[in-house]
Amino acid sequence: MKQSDFKAIDRSGTYTTKYDDAIKKFGTSDLMPLWVADMDLASPPCVQEAMKQRAAHPLYGYTVYPPRYYDAIQNWMKKRFDWEIKQEWIVPCYGVVPSMNFAIEAYTSKGDGVVIQSPIYPPFASSVKRKKRQLYDNVLLYKNGKYEIDFEDFEAKIKKSKLFLLCSPHNPTGRVWDENELNRIIEICLENKVLIVADEIHADIVYEKTHHILGSFEKIQEHCVILNAPSKTFNVAGLNTSYAIIPDDRLRRRFHVRQDKSGITNGNPFGIEALMTAYEEGDVWLDALKKYLSANIVFIKEFMETHDLPIKALPAEATYLLWLDCQEMGLDQKELVDFFVSDAKLGLNDGQSFGKTGAGFMRLNIGTSREVLEEAMQRLLKAYKEKK
Ligand SMILES: Cc1ncc(COP(=O)(O)O)c(C=O)c1O
Repeated sequence: MKQSDFKAIDRSGTYTTKYDDAIKKFGTSDLMPLWVADMDLASPPCVQEAMKQRAAHPLYGYTVYPPRYYDAIQNWMKKRFDWEIKQEWIVPCYGVVPSMNFAIEAYTSKGDGVVIQSPIYPPFASSVKRKKRQLYDNVLLYKNGKYEIDFEDFEAKIKKSKLFLLCSPHNPTGRVWDENELNRIIEICLENKVLIVADEIHADIVYEKTHHILGSFEKIQEHCVILNAPSKTFNVAGLNTSYAIIPDDRLRRRFHVRQDKSGITNGNPFGIEALMTAYEEGDVWLDALKKYLSANIVFIKEFMETHDLPIKALPAEATYLLWLDCQEMGLDQKELVDFFVSDAKLGLNDGQSFGKTGAGFMRLNIGTSREVLEEAMQRLLKAYKEKK
């Protein structure tokens, strides 16, 4: 896979959230959409081929999860993260967000405390609130352009809670939690008998650092649920195929009961094929993709610096989502969003949608071609110069 093979694909006519919902989201279609967390880059050729072959069979009926599906996940965990898992720990799921919802229902009751760390991917807070659990926000500390955990506050909130929803790597801050941080989290949660549900959907796109899967820490294995999917990694989010890894039998049974109650148990024939093929054959493509994305990140950072824009792209240790600190622009949030949408004609995520603590920030999706980002940066620069 050559770097020049990564190109933004025209997605019109495919009912794409990022493009087709842009009018609803921004009130105009006259902008470059750089928001929803999927990529404009094609899925790996091996996945495209698997989709074509499956589509060529003229019948798309109910589909089971074959042994090959479990093998693929087990082998992926071993080869990419050096984590050995048992096949019976794997629970096929319909999506990470639905699974997070099932986990909240399975392991807590109304009024129980649930901890999250904002700024954070919006469904973390909304899932907890909708289920009438008590939301405790262990706000991340923003220090010298980097996010850290406020452990004192974390411990105080964990003491009042039953469940911690960990986002690892963290969206939108791009943090990859290091071993020490995870060890402290684990110790505090174990001491207070708090279960951890870890959303690790971004685990495959980590740049310099090493991602440690929470379940690979032996002491927490019986007290955690890991949620993951090939969706972000291989750009197959629309196939609604994810999985949970739950080493503990009792926790797994409770999750199964909750998921079964929802009626969402059938597999998606295309999603299953995509997962198996991506995990079996997608390694080389993924390594090339990471190189491409990390060059995109460098490009954005350098552009902001070279042109003296009062916007800092935070160091993304993971994901193709760049968290932009726009505080130096001196605008309130409404003015900031308006500047991006109306002046620069760029559709980014409003930082405040990730919680109040996201004020002054915007989230930029760099999972597209360099040419698209070059144009986006030119628009930003022009709008900034005109505003100044
Ligand atoms: C942290 C995180 N979790 C979950 C999801 C969505 O997962 P799914 O589509 O499987 O529900 C996203 C998508 O942006 C995400 O960033």
